[in-house]
Amino acid sequence: MFDLIIRHATLPDDQSQMSIAITGNQIAEVEPDAVLAAAKAAHEIDAQGQLVSPAFVDAHFHLDSALRYGQPRINQSGTLLEGIHLWGELKPTLSQDAIVQTATRYCQWAVANGLLAIRSHVDVSDPRLLAVEALLHVRQTLKPYLDLQLVAFPQDGAKRSPGMLDQLRRALDMGVDVVGGIPHFERTAAEGAQSIRELCEIAADRGLMVDMHCDETDDPMSRHVETLAAETHRLGLTGRVTGSHLSSMHSMDNDYVNRLIPLMVQANLRVVANPLINITLQGRQDTYPKRRGMTRVPELLQAGLTVAFGQDCVMDPWYSLGSGDMLEVAHMGLHVAQMTSQFAMRDCFSAVTTSGAEVMGLTDYGLAPGARADLVLLQARDPIEAIRLRATRLVVIRGGKVIAKTPPRQAHLAWGDGQRSIDWLTNPVDQNC
Ligand code: FE2
Repeated sequence: MFDLIIRHATLPDDQSQMSIAITGNQIAEVEPDAVLAAAKAAHEIDAQGQLVSPAFVDAHFHLDSALRYGQPRINQSGTLLEGIHLWGELKPTLSQDAIVQTATRYCQWAVANGLLAIRSHVDVSDPRLLAVEALLHVRQTLKPYLDLQLVAFPQDGAKRSPGMLDQLRRALDMGVDVVGGIPHFERTAAEGAQSIRELCEIAADRGLMVDMHCDETDDPMSRHVETLAAETHRLGLTGRVTGSHLSSMHSMDNDYVNRLIPLMVQANLRVVANPLINITLQGRQDTYPKRRGMTRVPELLQAGLTVAFGQDCVMDPWYSLGSGDMLEVAHMGLHVAQMTSQFAMRDCFSAVTTSGAEVMGLTDYGLAPGARADLVLLQARDPIEAIRLRATRLVVIRGGKVIAKTPPRQAHLAWGDGQRSIDWLTNPVDQNC
């Protein structure tokens, strides 16, 4: 007797007519429908041949600044730097309660969208560490709904501001999970490299992961990812370090990139591209042609590296749109990187599911027995259709419990003498006239 069985599911690897049996908060069995046909459960869900995926994962977000679009005013230049200045003005005016409220509201959007694991950077530049307190509280109180992992992010530069490294250490002492950084925003390239060394040493001493905003610029000479790979190797942090953005790789000389990628492979660097934000913030100094500003996703995947896509920003000083929809993120990543082959489109789905989980180090993620039952039933037949339609999340399951439902998207046309239902699926579930 199971607690829940989902029957007639299609899985992301295209296995169809599958059943997923859940006991407690874990997946107990994943078998063809016929094998579990006689199995009983307290609750059943008929997937009707639609896609059941492990929940979406956002490997790069900023919960402390989300949902503050237009505060203190709208970013007129649309650049990263104006966004940083606006956030610098806004930060001292925020209370802990205000951050808790907006972060909670965003997490509700995320959960409704089947996004159940978020790595959020939290700014440690404010000596009061109000945002750290607030997001630690949110991480704890929202645990029944989603996994929140926090990165200590020195937004104003780890070396630029006096006492910043001490503040970062304090944030880690308080329970923040991951060491962050922003080497391209330090005063000089040399100080940027030094910040990487010191931050990686802090992570090595404490046995933590690292995730740095790295080379978020169109400047092809911004080469901090090279130092990040070297320090990862030197300190034995292989597989525990993520380079976020890596935008300058888009503009680098090919000869240099051909030497850089093997270094990244040696360090097993994780990579997070943020397609919505990269395409919006980068290339702002260009006339035409305008650069896309996203790192070389297909080439990094080809080299065997794990590449995830992040949402990064939603309605904040850097970005005016967004809704916590990781399929929108995958959709944009697919277009920006021209990842249009069948295989590459599936990679884009992985970039917001399994690859994100790998970046976050979620060991109980997936669709195998023993994994945590964090699942989403989509109104789509496969990952490509899910991206194409930004498919409705029909059912969201957290730890074996249904925590969100959305009705299927369907239009009703008056067509000829009768009615026709449209759901935009290639092979509609109900093709009625
Ligand atoms: Fe970011």
